[in-house]
Amino acid sequence: MIKTIEWTDEGVKMIDQRKLPTVEEYPVFKTYEEVAEAIRSMVIRGAPAIGVAAAMGVALGVRDSKAKNLEGLRSDFEQITKVLASTRPTAVNLFWAIERMKRLFKELADDDADRRTIADQLIQEALAIQTEDIENNKRMGRFGQQLLPDSGTVLTHCNAGALATAGYGTALGVIRAAVESGKHLRVVADETRPFLQGARLTAWELWKDDIDVRVIADNMAGTFMHQGLIDAVIVGADRIAANGDVANKIGTYPLAVLAKQHDIPFYVAAPFSTLDLKIPDGSHIPIEQRDAKEVTHIGGVRIVPDGVSVFNPAFDVTPNEFVTAIITDRGVALPPYLQSLDRLRVAGPAGRPDAKKDS
Ligand code: MRU
Repeated sequence: MIKTIEWTDEGVKMIDQRKLPTVEEYPVFKTYEEVAEAIRSMVIRGAPAIGVAAAMGVALGVRDSKAKNLEGLRSDFEQITKVLASTRPTAVNLFWAIERMKRLFKELADDDADRRTIADQLIQEALAIQTEDIENNKRMGRFGQQLLPDSGTVLTHCNAGALATAGYGTALGVIRAAVESGKHLRVVADETRPFLQGARLTAWELWKDDIDVRVIADNMAGTFMHQGLIDAVIVGADRIAANGDVANKIGTYPLAVLAKQHDIPFYVAAPFSTLDLKIPDGSHIPIEQRDAKEVTHIGGVRIVPDGVSVFNPAFDVTPNEFVTAIITDRGVALPPYLQSLDRLRVAGPAGRPDAKKDS
């Protein structure tokens, strides 16, 4: 399995996703500021993966803090979490992971734990978030694969695979689980302008796993659906509101509308840490606006006339009425989502001793 992110004594090692698929490089980010910049600049991306990166960044910052006493460490901790939380606004996993680290820090600091113990425990917590993410993806895969046909073509958008998580993937995890269970699936990957996560990352990781994948330009999806060539659509999510509205990579909403028009099921796969049940609907989800250069340039070459402005929202919100089912690590939620997601919240995480922490 591809190692998206790894804790090392020198710092946080990540595969540089900006350079894939042509260059496979694993730089080490040695300070929490460097980890924050890696998240901001998309060395690492994908909601669950940036949650893991932020947790490791917090642990790194605390371990290397020069504070002289606990009060100093508290103030450093505040700064570390503030910097990491300011990197990307849409994926709620980032804030979920930082909150989890904050809870543990407060518990230990209030108990007057020594510096070494605090740092060690925070490292262990970041590693637990990483391990649980892979377990959750595998559980999601088992639930979700039952929804996919025994043979057929599944369309996906962006990259919701091993590269977007600690491993295995959410939407691609469901596809992997289906293939592992003997289903004959072909994948059509939208290229996903402007950052090309589909063409560069989804195609790369599925190809490495010998899963049949073909890339299409984003504007081809409708025609393929109209021709009856797509049996299901499955995507990941960056944040899901209490009513089941889904924020995901820009271009997801038109796909969902097209899927409904052509009577094709539209599935969303996401761990429970992607649910933001405090917000009633998708209108409360902050949408990240990214650098214009991602649109005006491809591979460093300008394609839009100099002086012409562009828009670059990184995400869109798909209203719940277009979503056939939401696959989570706690089970599959069906409409109406206000009720079904809340039932999964009440059920809590299955088989985990720390169940109370994130329910
Ligand atoms: O801007 P990105 O590449 O971080 O956006 C990623 C996505 O939109 C993914 O579909 C989402 O995070 C789910 S990843 C399992």
